[in-house]
Amino acid sequence: MGDRGGARRGSAAPVIQTQALTKRYPRGVIALDDLTVAFAPGISGLVGANGAGKSTLIKILLGLLPPTSGRASVLGRDITADAERIRMATGYMPEHDCLPSDVTATEFVTHLGRMSGLPPTAAKERAAESLRHVGLYEERYRLIGTYSTGMKQRVKLAQALVGDPGLLLLDEPTTGLDPAGRVSMLDLISRVGAEFGISIVVSSHLLGEIEQICDHLVAIDGGRLLRSDTMTTFTQVSQVLAVEVDEGMPDLAAELGHRGLVPKQSGRALLVRIDGDATYDTVRDVVADLALPLNRLEQQRARVEELFRDDEEAPGASAQAPSASVQAPRAGGEEAHGDH
Ligand SMILES: Nc1ncnc2c1ncn2[C@@H]1O[C@H](COP(=O)(O)OP(=O)(O)O)[C@@H](O)[C@H]1O
Ligand SMILES: [Mg+2]
Repeated sequence: MGDRGGARRGSAAPVIQTQALTKRYPRGVIALDDLTVAFAPGISGLVGANGAGKSTLIKILLGLLPPTSGRASVLGRDITADAERIRMATGYMPEHDCLPSDVTATEFVTHLGRMSGLPPTAAKERAAESLRHVGLYEERYRLIGTYSTGMKQRVKLAQALVGDPGLLLLDEPTTGLDPAGRVSMLDLISRVGAEFGISIVVSSHLLGEIEQICDHLVAIDGGRLLRSDTMTTFTQVSQVLAVEVDEGMPDLAAELGHRGLVPKQSGRALLVRIDGDATYDTVRDVVADLALPLNRLEQQRARVEELFRDDEEAPGASAQAPSASVQAPRAGGEEAHGDH
């Protein structure tokens, strides 16, 4: 799935660019802190824990909130000078429930189509089309108040699509859904990206979920950039070797550390980031030298989620540790879509 948009990646201008973007809320909360990042065409994941600043960033990009300082552009337009045009060209799915319960999905989506500038007939047609796309065609004349959470999320996606946008900003579209609902929402987003050929930014606090459908990943923490890369680069740096011994794990960990590796414990195994064949040789040598009973030596592809979680859970990690260690193996992928 990581190949989607491959032809566009790298060469095309970014769909979103921020420059030292900072947002300070009243009473001093700094939600975005000097954030400079670019989003390339394709599907981008905006990941970060709750409170990381994802929703604030999205609202600033739409001109719904003013930044305290810094600049940003969306589809080549400045967010301060051109907010209206940006909103016309962008579909937005807000995080929280924003739907009226006493109108039908058709009425609601048609109304938003009208507000995005479509004439009455076109708005009606586009509404039906959007609702068909999200799988609500049969139920489009039901009151939204009678819908399940999953159906409401799909109405939110349909209204984002109705104005024929060039970019979708989806703020935590899987919120409140059960596991099956999450899978089908992500699948739907992925299909919308491919079929409409539009760029999508999808925010989530669940890295493991987002990595399934994204071409790029932008990770933020405390309003600051943690990392921005293509999925390919993320997965390249996530090759790890799992070493499991029946006894003597602390000795093994200590000796691997002496020889320049950084083992992390994961269950009964030690995980070591693979840096060429030398990593295998070192591990084999250490196990032999310490005469430990080797139980398992296996290459794994750590999921992106694990890369972050391991770093966060590293014993004795300081507050700085996550960003420092996540950024360490950067393999030059950022230049591919960084500064154009
Ligand atoms: N209207 C607001 N007033 C004051 N602080 C806010 C407001 N909205 C968000 N915040 C704070 O800004 C930070 C970022 O919030 P938010 O952008 O909602 O993060 P996320 O969407 O990643 O969960 C949090 O500390 C949050 O409490
Ligand atoms: Mg949010």
